[in-house]
Amino acid sequence: MIKYFRFIFIFSSLFLVGCSTTKKTAPINSTVPSLKEIFKNDFVIGTAMDTQQILGKDKSADKLIQQQFNAVTPENMMKAEVIHPGWNEYNFHYADMLVAFAAKNNIKVNAHTLIWHSQLPAYMQHNQDADSVKQYFENHISTVASRYDGKVYSWDVVNEALNEDGTLRNSIFLQKLGPDYIVDAFRLAQKASPHSKLYYNDYNIEQPQKRAGAIALIKKIQAAGVRIDGVGIQGHWNINNLPLKNIEESIKAFNALGIEVMFTELDISVLKNPWDNNTADISATAKGNAAMNPYKKNLPDSIQTKLTKAYSDLFTLFMKYKKDISRITFWGVDDGQSWLNNWPIAGRTNYPLLFDRNFKPKPAFYSVIATASKQ
Ligand code: XIL
Repeated sequence: MIKYFRFIFIFSSLFLVGCSTTKKTAPINSTVPSLKEIFKNDFVIGTAMDTQQILGKDKSADKLIQQQFNAVTPENMMKAEVIHPGWNEYNFHYADMLVAFAAKNNIKVNAHTLIWHSQLPAYMQHNQDADSVKQYFENHISTVASRYDGKVYSWDVVNEALNEDGTLRNSIFLQKLGPDYIVDAFRLAQKASPHSKLYYNDYNIEQPQKRAGAIALIKKIQAAGVRIDGVGIQGHWNINNLPLKNIEESIKAFNALGIEVMFTELDISVLKNPWDNNTADISATAKGNAAMNPYKKNLPDSIQTKLTKAYSDLFTLFMKYKKDISRITFWGVDDGQSWLNNWPIAGRTNYPLLFDRNFKPKPAFYSVIATASKQ
């Protein structure tokens, strides 16, 4: 009898294994596992959404978003140059569509971003006397944040305010408003948007010096009695340099501040950048050549394997700290959407995400899924 059951067990296991193998090649809309389902008890899983997707011009991506993700961050639609194009002119068209899309599909919106030195409207690049900057700063935060109060789950209130050594970046805001501008930004956001969470977001803040700067910043906001709910580590990394130890230390250190810890713009580049550093500064650009674009036609197996392992290592770590991490957002749905095809060098072919250019899950996708069942 026992033998008989054992036989049935082995047989059905083989059947299940067969099914899961079929899953890997099956069309995306049927049997592919869903990240948001697989990690539903662990963290929210997000993607950056671009304008084409929000306009419904990229149906395959939209389908994947509905199937795979329960959070979205607008890739560009809510940045100041788009949403506040003239001194007294706002363009809420795309942001409103994004909020409606998210509400319809039960998706959380992380609005990105209120105060950032990049992608500012043109008038802010000329109109730089201190009074105007102050007026812009107050009007922008109050108008934009109050419109979406409670309609967006959260705001990246301030983005990328730090240098690599942890000091404050010499942005137009620091120059004209002084070092308290970050606390002020959170104070204004708290007033305008009492029903949305408020976050600080930056790249490389897993690195010790910059992390120390971020911790000091967060403590300063907290000490002023102003609300800050979380910190976003952007997570623009490279297969040759995945800072696992620093990421682990950062999760612990930021968690100790009593706020949410998130990975907000995750992608793992397979291409070299022209410098020896790991910047994600969008103003750091360079001219390319053929040698800098080695995988134009396809990704060699050896690199695919490296990428798969990098994602596996990263999500193994994320799962270890699942209690301390609230959201993981990929910076794009598929490799074709990734900003890394055009930054820091325009016109390259990069492969940093979990879905390929045909919206098929890559081996890295399955390596991520596999980390869930291990825990
Ligand atoms: C990028 C977008 O993906 C691009 O489409 C745009 O041209 C430049 O900005 N850090 C951030 C994001 O906080 O807003 C940036 O997004 C990538 C780096």
